[in-house]
Amino acid sequence: QIENGLRPKYLKNYIGQDKIKEKLKIFIEAASARKEALDHVLLYGPPGLGKTTLSNIIANEMNVNIRITSGPAIERPGDLAAILTNLSENDVLFIDEIHRLNRSVEEILYPAMEDFALDIIIGKGPSARSIRLDLSKFTLIGATTRAGLLTSPLRDRFGVICKLDLYTVQELTTIVKRSATILGVQIEQDGAIEIASRSRGTPRIANRILKRIRDYAEVRADGKITKSVAKDALALLEIDDLGLDQVDKRVIKTIIENFNGGPVGIDTLAASTGEEKNTIEDVYEPYLLQIGFLNRTPRGRMVSEKAYNHFNILYKKE
Ligand code: ADE
Repeated sequence: QIENGLRPKYLKNYIGQDKIKEKLKIFIEAASARKEALDHVLLYGPPGLGKTTLSNIIANEMNVNIRITSGPAIERPGDLAAILTNLSENDVLFIDEIHRLNRSVEEILYPAMEDFALDIIIGKGPSARSIRLDLSKFTLIGATTRAGLLTSPLRDRFGVICKLDLYTVQELTTIVKRSATILGVQIEQDGAIEIASRSRGTPRIANRILKRIRDYAEVRADGKITKSVAKDALALLEIDDLGLDQVDKRVIKTIIENFNGGPVGIDTLAASTGEEKNTIEDVYEPYLLQIGFLNRTPRGRMVSEKAYNHFNILYKKE
C-alpha cells in the first residue's frame, strides 16, 4: 500500500519532532540494552502529525511486535483482557484515541500498566473473589489529541510523555521531497515549498496534497511538479495561500462577523459555526493559533488584525 510506503520505519528516516526523537532514541537504547520493555509512552498533539507512525517506529527499533487498536474499539473489559493476554514479552500495544476508553476498561489498564497483572473477578455478590493473572511485560503507547482529555490516574501511569508540535515549512518541505522520491514523481524545490506552506503544519495533509498535485501534473503538464504547476493545482483544489479550508474560514469569519472579532467562548463558537467543540480545539485551533490568526484570552477567542487583512476585511480597533 502506497500510504504505508510513505511512512518512515525507523527513527533516522523520521523528519522533525527532534526533541522527541532524541529522547526516544536514548530510552529505546537503554531499554533494549537491558532487554526490558520500554516504559509506557503517551503521545499527544493534533491529528496527522505522526503518532501512529512513531509508534510503529518504536516497535521496529525495539525489535518487537506491535498490536494496534483504539479507545472506542475496546468496548468491554474482556476485550482488553483478551488483547493483553495475547501479547508477547516486551511487545508494544498501541491504543489510539486512548481518551475514549470507557471507565470499566480503563480500570483494567491500571494494574496491567503498573504490575503487568490482570485482576479477574470470579462470581458475584458476597462470594465474589478476585484472582490475579500475570501478563507479559509490555509497552503501552497511548495517543490522544490533548493530554488534558485523560483522567489523571491514567496519565500518571505513563513514564514517557511526548507532545508533538506542528511541523515547520522547512520540515514539511523535506517530507514532501522524501515522499515524492518514494512515489517516483519529480518535484522542484519551489514546488515542494509551495505544498509545504499550504499544509497546515501537518505531514498527512502535505502527503495528500502531493498525491493530488501529482495527478494534476501528469494530466495537465509533463508530470513534473514545478512551483507554477503546484500553484495551478492548489487553486483548483481551492486551498488558499495558507492552506486554510472552508471550516477555518468559517471559524474566523464567524468571530469577525457575529462577535465583532471576539472575545467569544468556545461553546458559543461551536454552536454558531455548527462544528464540534472538540474538533475546533483539536483540528482547527492549533494551526490558527500558530499562524497568529487567533488568540486565546481568559475571556475567549479573539481574531487578530492579521486575519482581518488576510480576508480583506477592514480592522476597526475600538
Ligand atoms: N511522513 C509522514 N510523516 C513523516 C515524518 N515525520 N517524517 C518523514 N516522513 C513522514
